[in-house]
Amino acid sequence: MRIGVPAEVMAGESRVAVTPETARKLVGQGHEVRVQSGAGLRASATDSAYQAAGAQIVDAAGAYGSELVLKVRAPLPAERALMQPGTALVGMLNPFDADGLAALAAAGLTCFALEAAPRTTRAQGLDVLSSQANIAGYKAVMVAANQYGRIFPMLMTAAGTLKAARVVILGVGVAGLQAIATAKRLGAVIEASDVRPSVKEQVESLGAKFIDVPYETAEEKEAAEGVGGYARPMPPSWLERQQVEVAQRVAQADIVISTALIPGRAAPVLITEEMVKSMKPGSVIVDIAAGKGPKGVGGNCPLTEADTTVQKHGVFIIGETNLPALVPADSSSLYARNVLDFLKLIVPPAAKGEPAASLQVDLEDDIVAACLMTQGGEVKRKS
Ligand code: NAI
Repeated sequence: MRIGVPAEVMAGESRVAVTPETARKLVGQGHEVRVQSGAGLRASATDSAYQAAGAQIVDAAGAYGSELVLKVRAPLPAERALMQPGTALVGMLNPFDADGLAALAAAGLTCFALEAAPRTTRAQGLDVLSSQANIAGYKAVMVAANQYGRIFPMLMTAAGTLKAARVVILGVGVAGLQAIATAKRLGAVIEASDVRPSVKEQVESLGAKFIDVPYETAEEKEAAEGVGGYARPMPPSWLERQQVEVAQRVAQADIVISTALIPGRAAPVLITEEMVKSMKPGSVIVDIAAGKGPKGVGGNCPLTEADTTVQKHGVFIIGETNLPALVPADSSSLYARNVLDFLKLIVPPAAKGEPAASLQVDLEDDIVAACLMTQGGEVKRKS
């Protein structure tokens, strides 16, 4: 197949969907890989590295004019216009963006959104949410440490003792766990909160303290079990008790990293303005849910402003919406391997010496069926 790899044009996007490593594998499977000149530069992959892997360097029209286009982000209208009806597209296409999917369907594209893959063992190798959230959790701690006017570890010196930073992590999915592990390595004292009870053991095994908010009713217990591994909105009764517990910890915290998300819904508000006021001057909040708060405003904190750092009531609030793009080489390396793993399901690798396979959309495969967003001019997304 002719496989195109365009340069991402969305503001701030520095990742690339195919690295020289995965390009070499695709070429080895008999595919013609066409990479737009400069597509990998921000992720430390030069045109010559792609050429050495057997790929061709082309312009944007050459990349988009391929049978299968591999991208990081959903195409903007100008990018969409470069694709012919019938083109297959794989990327992080935002399964909850109904208008975006309708436009992709109207363009006659066969689209697969990798974020829609089920959280199952078989899908682990192509789980883009995990691979990118892992990096986001790490980088959140790095940007917090950079902004913070003090150090993380306790330091005993002849000039006196510096206290270890107190870090609170809200939402302990993949990003939250990595944030705990990273902050721990830097010597912080960490507490964490999540709605899902299964997280407690993971938090403690990383050397952090879990902020326990016991479930008092069957409704609270049931909601906390979530669905498909994801959280569900919790009853207000539990959220109120959680807020009391969290508010006490936040008031004492030097750093708060919030990652709480509920797929397809607004991120829950966990850090109110009152809580921000209670924090020490110079404290730092990194809100990974930035831009995903109620009505698209704020994040886990209503004072968060997407893609910028603000200082409110003396507290720095970092609203970076694309932390993985700040670590483009490693994020791309993991993402490209996720993409390669997904391609095995829709373009099965041919046996040695056999011609490369073409696109096969097997709806009996639960991963393919979940990721298929548009085909034949229609939106196919499963609810
Ligand atoms: P996410 O990004 O959707 O949400 C982040 C975290 O926020 C979750 O832990 C969620 O429980 C928490 N949260 C939501 N509302 C909250 C509230 N009001 N207060 C506190 N915390 C709140 O989650 P992510 O990282 O995508 O992980 C989702 C699940 O998928 C996890 O259970 C994870 O273990 C599971 N998973 C399973 C995999 C597999 O089996 N292949 C692979 C990766 C993740």
